Amino acid sequence: KTVINIGVAGFGTVGQGLADVIEKNHDLIVRRTGREIRIKSVLIRSEHRRAEVQAIGAEAVTDYRQLITDPDIDVVVELTGGIAFPKQLIADAINAGKHVVTANKALLAEDGMGLFALAAKKGVHLGFEASVAGGIPVVGPLRDSLAGNGVHKILGILNGTANYILTEMTDKGLDFQTALNDATEKGYAEADPTLDIEGIDTAHKLALLIRLAFGCNYPFDKLPVTGITVVTPMDISFAKEFGFRIKLLAQSRLIDGKVEAGVYPALVPEDNLLASVNGAFNAIRLAGNAGPVVLHGKGAGALPTGSAVLADIMAIARAAEPNNLGFVGVELPEAEQIDLDDA
Ligand code: NDP
Ligand code: HSE
Repeated sequence: KTVINIGVAGFGTVGQGLADVIEKNHDLIVRRTGREIRIKSVLIRSEHRRAEVQAIGAEAVTDYRQLITDPDIDVVVELTGGIAFPKQLIADAINAGKHVVTANKALLAEDGMGLFALAAKKGVHLGFEASVAGGIPVVGPLRDSLAGNGVHKILGILNGTANYILTEMTDKGLDFQTALNDATEKGYAEADPTLDIEGIDTAHKLALLIRLAFGCNYPFDKLPVTGITVVTPMDISFAKEFGFRIKLLAQSRLIDGKVEAGVYPALVPEDNLLASVNGAFNAIRLAGNAGPVVLHGKGAGALPTGSAVLADIMAIARAAEPNNLGFVGVELPEAEQIDLDDA
């Protein structure tokens, strides 16, 4: 099949980011997968989205069963948010034999184990790279490239909104609410920003990282979580005076087969790498018995997250091809070189 048709549920920040990266990277997608990726249908719940969906050449539908019963749709992409509705949608899509890609860390962390089991039983993919740290590849690396590293410690800044707010308060003296409004405007915040500012979104992501790194399931409701609403401008200014920045950290360690984990605002010395992770950027330090790895990049927003969703779809699209270099075929063209003397 030369076209992979996808059905997208939800056309907000990430849904539109996905449409953008599919358009921008059309030729690259074909080179890397040997296929076209086309958004065939989009599930909407508000009529005002219909024109936006039609503008990308897709059909707007109002019942998700139209996505999962469409024999032409190969992959269902869940980008609505929340828990109960997307859980049903994803389960029904898997049962209908569709591959699924989601960015929904809340669902996967709080109630996701059954969905992974169902996907395995049905022999379909359940991709979730975008669910942790937006555009930073961490799900794939923990499952694949770092699988032999014996990762036993996770330390990260995992929420773009909280990090953006702390950065704006620290560097520009902005008040909390103004900084949160900016983050929402830029597409970083959750539909319910309480999840961002109370540390719950960070905890969702930490729960997923623990599963991927340590191979066990930390009960989400037992994770100790403190958000950034406890941080006052005075805390920030005293921290600065003593040479620290306040960051919302997610931490976990595997000690003798037991897991210690938590989310809380912490003082980070200004000369520590994590202190320079600012704005909507995230960073994750993974310590393994074969050496540490640090991942850094944009943790939220339309394009970075859309690109992570697209990567999962592309992995599904090329699964049938031997694809060791990430392009179709083993013969790569010689790179055209820039003559540095002319540059
Ligand atoms: P938005 O709120 O911007 O978009 C969600 C979209 O889904 C909206 O268009 C909304 O409709 C639609 N929707 C919600 N419920 C339904 C429903 N029952 N039926 C049909 N459509 C529905 O959220 P985001 O795009 O920011 O986030 C989507 C998912 O991606 C969430 O799970 C989020 O946690 C995750 N995520 C977000 C990131 C980001 O940077 N924003 C990064 C990583 C993950 P309407 O337009 O009518 O409100
Ligand atoms: N609201 C989330 C954040 C989106 O700010 O990090 C990315 O998961």
